[in-house]
Amino acid sequence: ASLTNRNTLRVDARAALLAEIRDAGKLPELLDFPAVRNGRLLVLGEGSNVLFTGDFDGTVLAMETRGVQVESDGDSARIAVAAGERWDDFVRWTLGHGYAGLENLILIPGTVGAAPIQNIGAYGCEVAEFVESVEAWDTRERRVVTLDHAVCAFAYRDSLFKHEPGRYIVTAVRFVLPRSRPLRTDYAGINEQLARMGVDKPAPFHVAEAVVHLRTSKLPDPAVIGNAGSFFKNPIVDAALADALQREHPGLPAWPQPDGRCKVSAAWMIEAAGFKGVREGDAGISNRHALVLVNHGKATGPQLWALAQRVMLGVHEKFGIALEPEPVVIDPF
Ligand code: EPU
Repeated sequence: ASLTNRNTLRVDARAALLAEIRDAGKLPELLDFPAVRNGRLLVLGEGSNVLFTGDFDGTVLAMETRGVQVESDGDSARIAVAAGERWDDFVRWTLGHGYAGLENLILIPGTVGAAPIQNIGAYGCEVAEFVESVEAWDTRERRVVTLDHAVCAFAYRDSLFKHEPGRYIVTAVRFVLPRSRPLRTDYAGINEQLARMGVDKPAPFHVAEAVVHLRTSKLPDPAVIGNAGSFFKNPIVDAALADALQREHPGLPAWPQPDGRCKVSAAWMIEAAGFKGVREGDAGISNRHALVLVNHGKATGPQLWALAQRVMLGVHEKFGIALEPEPVVIDPF
């Protein structure tokens, strides 16, 4: 089965088997088919966080389950959402129903089930803050498990699910969302955008509107040009190293972390290393945002991956920093 329309980098890759999951309850039965049981498994939502470097020699589970269920409501609500729901649809649903918390995370591509796996984040917020638990099929124990927030081991673009790849198939996420909370607007131009919009007492939907404006003006739209959002994580380094880097490279943005370390801007380093806007065949680095690997048309997975590795090498040579890819890089075997 072709995966070209199932990954936002629009890499022409194939899967040996493809199963569209519309009922999570059918997973155990499906996983018991010998052809499925004996091979590799890959769960795909919208495919907005993967790079295929070849065909996938196993079963792709396309999560297409739907459902948003308010389990309790008051000053805050507990809401269970099926893994296959589109993240951005859910964010808009929460705003429409008067819940706060997810406004900074509007317009992030992908599904609800994928959100906790890489702990999606933007504009000073991470989804982890609102995840009460994650429901999953545990392929090792062969049972449904509810993984509480603490067990999920959330960190910057990281979670338990990334450390035990393949073990859990996320089927639903349970959120707790307040009716109101202090808004986070002091990040990456939100306040300035709110001022331009003439809003002085922002509600969550104003913040969402500001973020939509900022994202659409900075990030290429995957519907227009193939990409997977940020292709690299911002490296987190010791404060002393961040200081030294900033002395040597004035202008390098760095953000202190709660644990005393420092997050430094991968985009800035990539741009300074001369890669912003480069193009090798149809593989490129966006000229709008240096963190974004783009497919101008017919780039293959290996071509995109080769360019990404050249960027990593170039940044390492100039800054001594090893960048890590943010999407999952899927090898053929
Ligand atoms: N910058 C450059 N060159 C560029 C782009 C940015 O030098 O081409 C510098 C600028 O100095 C800017 C700084 O990098 O001030 C930070 O840029 P930006 O605010 O765009 O944020 P980011 O750190 O590059 C992160 C997330 C994005 C998220 C934005 C906004 C990661 C890996 N990426 O990017 O998430 O939208 O913050 O909060 O943490 C994603 O994960 O796919 C993603 C798009």
